[in-house]
Amino acid sequence: MSAGKKRLVVASNRGPVSFARDESGRPVTRRGAGGLVTAGSVALARTGGLWIAAAMSEEDRANAGRTLEVGTAGAGFHVRLLPLDPSDYERFYDGVSNRVLWFLHHSLWDVPRAPTFEGLADAWRGYERVNQAFAEALEEELRLADGRDAVTLVQDYHLALVPSLLRGRSPEAPIVHFSHIPFAGPTEMRILPQPVRESLLAGMLGADVVGFQAPSWAENFLLCCRGLPDARVDLRRRLVRWKDRDVRVRVYPISIDPAALREEAATEAAAEEEREILQWIGDRRLLVRVDRAELSKNILRGFLAYECFLEANPEWLGRIGFLALLNPSRQHLAEYRAYAEEAAELAGRINRRFRREDWEPIQLSLKDDYPRALAAYRLYDVLLVNPVFDGMNLVAKEGPVLNGRDGVLVLSENAGAFAELGRHALAVNPFDVGATAAAIATALKMGPAERRRRARALRRAVTRNPVEAWAGAQIEDLGRIIR
Ligand code: G6P
Repeated sequence: MSAGKKRLVVASNRGPVSFARDESGRPVTRRGAGGLVTAGSVALARTGGLWIAAAMSEEDRANAGRTLEVGTAGAGFHVRLLPLDPSDYERFYDGVSNRVLWFLHHSLWDVPRAPTFEGLADAWRGYERVNQAFAEALEEELRLADGRDAVTLVQDYHLALVPSLLRGRSPEAPIVHFSHIPFAGPTEMRILPQPVRESLLAGMLGADVVGFQAPSWAENFLLCCRGLPDARVDLRRRLVRWKDRDVRVRVYPISIDPAALREEAATEAAAEEEREILQWIGDRRLLVRVDRAELSKNILRGFLAYECFLEANPEWLGRIGFLALLNPSRQHLAEYRAYAEEAAELAGRINRRFRREDWEPIQLSLKDDYPRALAAYRLYDVLLVNPVFDGMNLVAKEGPVLNGRDGVLVLSENAGAFAELGRHALAVNPFDVGATAAAIATALKMGPAERRRRARALRRAVTRNPVEAWAGAQIEDLGRIIR
């Protein structure tokens, strides 16, 4: 089965386009950001096909139902935004996806206190109904494809039930479920109430192939399936026997499009930001982090590590600047808002402690500023990527591709990207603040030859895995499995 012959249908919560209004109130479409949009769009642009996503906002809902065309002629595809009941959508997106599954799979709960699962039963019903709506839309699409084989790529924790719901309606459909985030191990999985836990696993096992970003997440999934009554798990062959079918568990590390990224970095907006950063940093060294302002990114320990580094290495006071570019995420939820506020307070405290008349240790920006992130990538001496757990982490790939200073990557062992890039980075246990501080010091002391060698190796490792390989490998695997 080659990608060229198949009609692709991608399903995800956040789609490749959304609707908004410009300053004068006119409706405008916006292209979504992030790795899924890039890799999914590349796959769909090659084969044509359809992307089904949730209508997430009022504006989206006003435009839902009709099919939109995205991309250029010959490399375009269609997008359909699903109209969903707003209160069900809230249960699905906030109640289950953001408050429960995100926390579970990234180990974010302060377990002596949380979770308590108040309201989960009600939220879960909304989650089921939204997953059902996706399965219905997909089935309708498969029926319309009529005879032409279609491959369904279902994305992420939002849509964990879709594979089995679709399998029930369309038993022969080739289905992949792919998780962009980590997958919890069996001990943590036991935090979830049993029926929810079993529904999630059984839901994903409706697929022919269950894909993950990194080997650890695939292993965790297999180990969790061992707790499912009636599932037979072959760890060595990464296979789960479930309801008389074999489900393959595979790893497909997502990548980036270096050429497109370089083009974006060559714009005047990025050049302007570069000049601005250079003015701020002067002849000091530059430490950078670029993240969504979100709990799994471990922003607080990153600042604490920097503080610890300054304390232990006073000769660096005034000779380094930390540019922290944080893009606000899910700020309508109190947990996420409080975290961003705590990060800002901590940066403020560190600045008050160490600042000098002509020097501020941390410059924190809490806004969506892509051109500035691109400029920071080009200029960093050290890039700090220290998530507690992360499915992949594309900052660790984007930075080295753009950087022009042989900058050093300090990388969490718990980021999926570590499997591909870890050898060329300085590895850190993200919980160990002292070790992270020491890694920053080592990076700054590293000689030019070693910096160059590591920077080149990082660039090669990223470009060796082209962005189109992600969907291509999934489709090929399906072809081998389905006769
Ligand atoms: C991660 C997930 C994506 C999600 C993104 C942003 O990268 O893998 O599925 O879209 O975070 O989260 P949001 O809730 O804003 O879509």
